[in-house]
Amino acid sequence: MSIDMKRIAIYPGSFDPVTNGHIDIVKRGLTLFDRVIVAILLNASKNYLFSVEERLQMLKKSMKDLRNVEFDTFDGLLVDYARTRNASAILRGMRAVSDFEYEFQLALMNRKLNRNIQTVFLMTGLRWIFTSSSIIKEAAQFGGDIEDMVPKLVNRELKKKFNRS
Ligand code: PNS
Repeated sequence: MSIDMKRIAIYPGSFDPVTNGHIDIVKRGLTLFDRVIVAILLNASKNYLFSVEERLQMLKKSMKDLRNVEFDTFDGLLVDYARTRNASAILRGMRAVSDFEYEFQLALMNRKLNRNIQTVFLMTGLRWIFTSSSIIKEAAQFGGDIEDMVPKLVNRELKKKFNRS
């Protein structure tokens, strides 16, 4: 198959930090696409717990056994980045109903900006339906047990950040 016939999807996000829910979406995405590019938004105006480099390393390490996954960062419009990577789709995970409104807005805006790129929503596994990076950070900050919601190395990094190791 030539390079331009490959089905490539971008899985964009903050990944602050990567959770088991994110990994679940990447694995599901790989059943539909030849390649999934996990891309961190470089957004200086938002406050993140982990630096871009830390987030990138955690993503890479936690998915080192997966084939056909690539890790990258992007700036500016997602649809422009998707075009430069020859991607035909944007992958987003959908959890509870509360995700819907924001995801719907994002998808429709992205479609308005570039009609050739489709947004594909995947349902996370039931186990991860209430898993979010922000709720995990909050629990970890106060010593809550989030061990089964994130990769082991992320759990370690969270403990270090909050001086709980
Ligand atoms: O993990 P997040 O924070 O929910 O991810 C949000 C993300 C990165 C997908 C979204 O903010 C994004 O795509 N930003 C890039 C700018 C852009 O293209 N925005 C959408 C159209 S205005």
